[in-house]
Amino acid sequence: MQYGYFDDERREYVITDPRTPTKWINYVGTLAFGGFVDHTGGALICKGDPALNRITKYIQQMPASDFKGTTLYLRLKEGDGYRVFSPYFVPTLDPFDFYQCHVGLGYTRIASAFYGIRSEVTIFVPPDGSCLLRDIRITNGGDEAVEVDAIPVVEYTHPQALTQLTNADWVPQTMQSDAYRGEDERVILAQYAFMHKEKRVNFFTSNRPVSSFEADRRRFLGANEYGSWARPLALQAPELSDTEARRGDNIGALMHHLGEIGPGESARLITMLGQAESIEAARPTIERYSDESKVDAALAELGAFWDEYLSAVQVETPDRALNSMLNVHNPRQCHTTKNWSRYLSYYQLGLGARGIGFRDSSQDTLGVMTHMPGEARDLIHTLLRVQKRDGSAMHQFNPMSMEANEGDSREREEGPHFYSDDHLWAILAACAYLKETGDLAFLDETIPYYDKDRDGEPIEEGSALDHLLRGIEFTRRTVGAHGLPSLGYADWNDTVNLYEGAESLFTANLYGRALLELIALFNHTGDAASADRLRGYYEGMREAVNEHCWDGAWYIRYFDPEGKPLGSKQNAAGQVFTNGQSWPVLSGFATGERARRALDAVYEHLNTAKGIKLSTPGYNGYDLAVGGISSYPPGAKENGGIFLHTNPWVVIAEAMMGNGSRAYEYYSQINPAAKNDLIDEYELEPYVYPQNILGDEHPLFGLARNSWLSGTAAWMYQAGIEWILGVQARYDGLLIDPCIPAGWDGFSVRRRFRGATYAIEVRNPKHVEKGVAAVSVDGSRIEGSVIPVFAEGGTHRVEVVMG
Ligand code: NOJ
Repeated sequence: MQYGYFDDERREYVITDPRTPTKWINYVGTLAFGGFVDHTGGALICKGDPALNRITKYIQQMPASDFKGTTLYLRLKEGDGYRVFSPYFVPTLDPFDFYQCHVGLGYTRIASAFYGIRSEVTIFVPPDGSCLLRDIRITNGGDEAVEVDAIPVVEYTHPQALTQLTNADWVPQTMQSDAYRGEDERVILAQYAFMHKEKRVNFFTSNRPVSSFEADRRRFLGANEYGSWARPLALQAPELSDTEARRGDNIGALMHHLGEIGPGESARLITMLGQAESIEAARPTIERYSDESKVDAALAELGAFWDEYLSAVQVETPDRALNSMLNVHNPRQCHTTKNWSRYLSYYQLGLGARGIGFRDSSQDTLGVMTHMPGEARDLIHTLLRVQKRDGSAMHQFNPMSMEANEGDSREREEGPHFYSDDHLWAILAACAYLKETGDLAFLDETIPYYDKDRDGEPIEEGSALDHLLRGIEFTRRTVGAHGLPSLGYADWNDTVNLYEGAESLFTANLYGRALLELIALFNHTGDAASADRLRGYYEGMREAVNEHCWDGAWYIRYFDPEGKPLGSKQNAAGQVFTNGQSWPVLSGFATGERARRALDAVYEHLNTAKGIKLSTPGYNGYDLAVGGISSYPPGAKENGGIFLHTNPWVVIAEAMMGNGSRAYEYYSQINPAAKNDLIDEYELEPYVYPQNILGDEHPLFGLARNSWLSGTAAWMYQAGIEWILGVQARYDGLLIDPCIPAGWDGFSVRRRFRGATYAIEVRNPKHVEKGVAAVSVDGSRIEGSVIPVFAEGGTHRVEVVMG
């Protein structure tokens, strides 16, 4: 069964049946103002922080047929009453003649036809981030004139999103709405929590006259709420009650009589939902977007933003699904993860438990480095502010207050309270930024450490480079019995929580990778002494890993506090872990025969046609000594599930080993675009990567969950561009070193780099998987395959012949 198709030309995915297995969403705006819109017109909108300043009430766990956050009703006069329906399908669920949801870049457009009325609603946040716009066009598709009423609706939440769910006394006592009617008969509804009424109000309004409004949900649904969102009783009366809510569940509903629409004629209505200090402060925004031409201009400006963003890298390969992902959907998802971290999605509820994660956001910057290096830099700077003086990092923080905490490790009072990997990811992020931009001045920027004195002021600050080196020193001195890094509460795998004294092979390798990055940096800056010192650290860890962690056919993953391995053939569950094999290759600790055997173990024991599992076999019962992993049934999430974030690391490892066909096989088997025909099994959006797919130990093998906010996005992007197509930023230029399936004749990449454009044509006449035989730039042969930096800018033709 298919629910839609890719329209690559318009850079959209088009959903053609609203009854998808779960809601499929799209992001609008940014964390500063925005949220997501689902394919049936529901919207979760917030400003600055989904936990502390949420605007619409959107409860993910309620059935798909339920109203969530925003909707739109249309009604036609019929006999003594009205035919009421929603052009979004939900919540009235009328039979539709036509339905399409166009999931675009920063906008969603729902086009539908019910009872002869065609509607097209474009939902987006304009680039100025001032409000959520709904641009509604209603067309009479019948042969006779009809009178149409349009009633857009929003349901508010208390700004403290969790409190809305936990307190049914204080919350309803504080929620209020006022109406402002202008001379032109337009109405602005202001909604606020009482304590915020002087400083922030939500506004909901439109660009056409409103004959009546409703702010009280009970009155709108009617009969003490025995009316429903599917059949609101208030819409059977000619007008709404004009109630300004003084308490209770607040909504905004605006009655628009669009008048008589002749056959083939259309009416247009624009609604605005936003938040400002006061209604007075909101008026310029309201005036601006009451003008249809300004709405058109804002949509065009949004399109121009995405044109510019995506033009940073465009590829043309023999694989359409890969082109579609690398040119549009994957970079868009990277933009989303960079913006929202793991904060707010259909699965991440944004109620305050997490905020911005140090580890996740560090990795997210890697996916946008070519497209928006300046923003990536700012995020890295912010992250380094929550690093501690000892070099470790706070696990997560709230973006508004910059209050940080130690994540789930707080659940184990006796500790440890650090995650062994967090701080090391920032080194990968910072070095990627330096290679992309050459902006070495960043290393000298002064950034405070997180530790505060009694007045809440930072105790110490240091240069960005000092932060990175303290991260290295933290890991160097925080080691266990085998000289491997102490696990802390966890490493990348949040769910293996061994007691104090455990060691992590993953962190050993991440440390190795981070050291390689810094050694390359010091070689570039000519600091030979620092490069030598770090090379010594690197060799020490390489020896420890190879001496203690080779299990005969693959690498183990952890040592427990008693020094017993996990991820070994000795274990009953968790015998082999994917990260235990890919990362020794990424760190360079595994080479030659061992590297090949480790990666072959992945293929043999962990690969499935639907993706690579994180580990196998799954734990079958809760075991406090290993922690969260054993809370899942075998095959789910980290417990033997296909945890997609780790798949690109295997792609990269295979590409490093020169195995182009294997790298491509792994890449393609999880390409969501290839799942379009398998949706009844897979269930999620085919235009973004999910976090996980149930593994083959689970009865629902192949079912995906947790789409959008996953490190899979940034790493699949790097795997595709930097390792399969082989285009990588280096300190001294752009390296071209592809690793592709032998069957490819070649491919092309157009990429921006330090102010110049590189138009790269790769030919593969001998059908090899790896190896560059000749490179020419603007018609002249060069030595090696690093294309120089062109300080003067311009477009440069790069021809590469593999062989
Ligand atoms: C999801 C978390 O966001 C990420 O930080 C972690 O690495 C993975 N789960 C694996 O546990």
